[in-house]
Amino acid sequence: MKILIATEKPFSKEAVSGIREIVEKNGHELALLEKYTDKKELLDAVQTANALIIRSDKIDKEVLDAAKELKIVVRAGAGYDNVDLEAATANNVCVMNTPGQNSNAVAELVFGMLVYLARNGYTGKAGTELRGKRLGLHAFGYIGKLVAEIAQGFGMKVFAFSPSLARDPKLGEPHGVTACQNPEELYNNSDIVSLHMPANAHTKESINYELMSRLPEDGIIINTARKEVIHEADMVKIMTERPNFKYATDIPPANNAEMAEKFAGRYLASTKKCGAQTAEANMNAGLAAAEQIVAFLESGDETFKVN
Ligand code: 3PG
Repeated sequence: MKILIATEKPFSKEAVSGIREIVEKNGHELALLEKYTDKKELLDAVQTANALIIRSDKIDKEVLDAAKELKIVVRAGAGYDNVDLEAATANNVCVMNTPGQNSNAVAELVFGMLVYLARNGYTGKAGTELRGKRLGLHAFGYIGKLVAEIAQGFGMKVFAFSPSLARDPKLGEPHGVTACQNPEELYNNSDIVSLHMPANAHTKESINYELMSRLPEDGIIINTARKEVIHEADMVKIMTERPNFKYATDIPPANNAEMAEKFAGRYLASTKKCGAQTAEANMNAGLAAAEQIVAFLESGDETFKVN
């Protein structure tokens, strides 16, 4: 079978070698499409692929329809909002993610961004410390739990909201986390909020003025989730009204230029999403994707199927 890695933002060389080893050892063939700049390249490459390993690459109906031989797509990572699940199901294509495999890289970046903002971009202007501050985790999956662990090393108090935590607050106890019943309660109890929810119809633009205004005047939002969850106009509004409010995002928003100009010194956006861009995360997620494909092709194993 032909397994195609199609990554606009490539894995490390070591991760690609590791994937190749798994693929070839199991009698399959590996094809590679990296750093493509035109969708046409992807449409051509998928035509003969039986399996696909992707990252944030957009796999829409057009791509799925072009991939006549495709049986499985594995998103090497957590969020699969870039795959049209309905079209995949209609085409009898199994879609999986690799949950947890790149979480630590994202969790560490949260603190990279947070310390940068708290210390005013390392300009020498007096900033604030994290010890004793209240950190709110909006969603509490693999990444949220790791962020909670690191935050406690900084001496922060950690609160979290997720629907499952609200149903069963005891789930927070082993992680040293106080569960909140709803997002409003979370923002009322936080100095800083870190976002960890997926992008979907329910979360789209859910981080709005009403919620953010519950944070203190000098509140901080860290977004390593998805740009879609932010209500961008509301973010501009609150940062305009509150001169000490800060925002860092790993996913440059549509209004990045406006934000960078208006809020210089208290706004940070990655040049390109880099939360999962570590040697370790590439290796973990890439190899997991390859193993999952081999198991699916060989025995029909559908663990981690999301459609
Ligand atoms: C994920 O959902 O796993 C992260 O956002 C990482 O995305 P990336 O593979 O495009 O870096």
